[in-house]
Amino acid sequence: MSYKRVGIVGVGNVGSSIAYNLAFQDICDEILLKDIREDFTKAVALDISQAISSINSKTTIKATCSDEEFKDCDIVVITAGIARKPNMSRDDLLFTNAKIMNSIVQNVVKYNKDSILIIVSNPLDAMVYCALKASNFPRNRVLGMAGILDSSRMSYFIKKKIGYKKIEAMVLGGHGDDMVPLIKHTKVDGIPLDEVLNENEIEDIIEKTKNGGIEIVKLLQTGSAYFAPAQATVLMLEAILEDKKTAYPCAVNLEGEYGYKDVVTGVPIVLGEKGVLQIIEMELSSKEKKEFANSVNSVKTLIKKLEENI
Ligand code: LAC
Repeated sequence: MSYKRVGIVGVGNVGSSIAYNLAFQDICDEILLKDIREDFTKAVALDISQAISSINSKTTIKATCSDEEFKDCDIVVITAGIARKPNMSRDDLLFTNAKIMNSIVQNVVKYNKDSILIIVSNPLDAMVYCALKASNFPRNRVLGMAGILDSSRMSYFIKKKIGYKKIEAMVLGGHGDDMVPLIKHTKVDGIPLDEVLNENEIEDIIEKTKNGGIEIVKLLQTGSAYFAPAQATVLMLEAILEDKKTAYPCAVNLEGEYGYKDVVTGVPIVLGEKGVLQIIEMELSSKEKKEFANSVNSVKTLIKKLEENI
């Protein structure tokens, strides 16, 4: 990549936090913001531009409402859609956000034929599947942000329980109530979690991780989390922009890996300039296999609902 342009569709809390965080990294030439709220989007672009001028970041931030102007992005992040309310699950957003996702992706791909799509909208895995079908892109260029977020929530709850240690958490499966925290692959100073905490303590961490998002929704009342989702997205952007070839759990379409086909779920992938470079097949315990199957089946149910209703 020479001139690096990152597009962000949907400049709500998540979209603007991604732009803000990314601009401070100083790793792309341009961030192009697109939203239906023209003046609001211009204001966000100006505000972030003024914020980063203090660090001399090379990134310029532009705002647009036009499909034609939103073009030639190396990466397009899509955060558009409605967020859940306190009494909703992510799945309750399915039909509304699928409609929004389909129409956005159809427009985006007209002017961004070679870009990598990172989907952030919920229900995440089903939205990645919509984007994959609507774009007709190969699966290595359509991926979803969630595994890094769920893993960082898990690390946070472990840290809260035992204090600071080097914690590497690993959460696979869909970004939903049946996500799959991998206990053996979650390490505290290199030691598997089940050698550090007892069964009840681990159960408590898992519950908290699964409810990490809704806890914030209930407190905010007006939307869902944005700083942690934005940080997770920026890690993915960094890996692609700088061709880091880093392994992260992300949502991708499986084509036989883990025994599943044509369904999107969170698995560890290697991420670089060309998008998904490799899907890593981890060894799962029989309990984890069962949980992973449950999680994949939930996503399959959503995909089926979508196919029956479109
Ligand atoms: C969350 C939303 C972004 O987990 O799904 O906070």
